[in-house]
Amino acid sequence: MSAEATKNITFPKELLDEVARLTAQYPEGKQKSALLRILHMAQAHFGWLDAPVMDYVARLLHLQPIEVHEVATFYSMYDTKKPGLVKLEVCQTGPCSIEGADKIIRYIEKKLNIKVGETTSDGIFTLKGVECLGACGYAPMLQCGHQYHEHLTEAKVDELIEQYRKNPKANYMEY
Ligand code: FES
Repeated sequence: MSAEATKNITFPKELLDEVARLTAQYPEGKQKSALLRILHMAQAHFGWLDAPVMDYVARLLHLQPIEVHEVATFYSMYDTKKPGLVKLEVCQTGPCSIEGADKIIRYIEKKLNIKVGETTSDGIFTLKGVECLGACGYAPMLQCGHQYHEHLTEAKVDELIEQYRKNPKANYMEY
């Protein structure tokens, strides 16, 4: 990684203060316990977790880069490549699957002309398949930003895509 590439990868003071506050909650040598929260902060601040950002988080927590990479690539809520403005995260675990999640995913793929894991060419929508989001009683469902959309049908998907196309940042909260 060049010096140029790392130049702007630094949290502002308020986020560094938050890192210090979080890591102080754990015994010496156990700062890795704050990793999930700090990755959320990094993703919100930098937009996604590319390798230089993950390396920066590793330096902050005195971890090996591979330790951060392993965690960031394990959990679907982290983006290790640049996502679209709107992330449609469709639950594909058992109860949602039984209630038609697979059909909803295929419908979105066809409607947006992308596959799971891809972003539309206009950079607006990314489609992700994720594991249980704890709303099994409202299956099939998807998460977009900080909003759950439940009992999905193709008509509801049409409405959602229209709504988010007009206002991509609806339902996204700032950290
Ligand atoms: Fe989809 Fe739990 S299985 S929310």
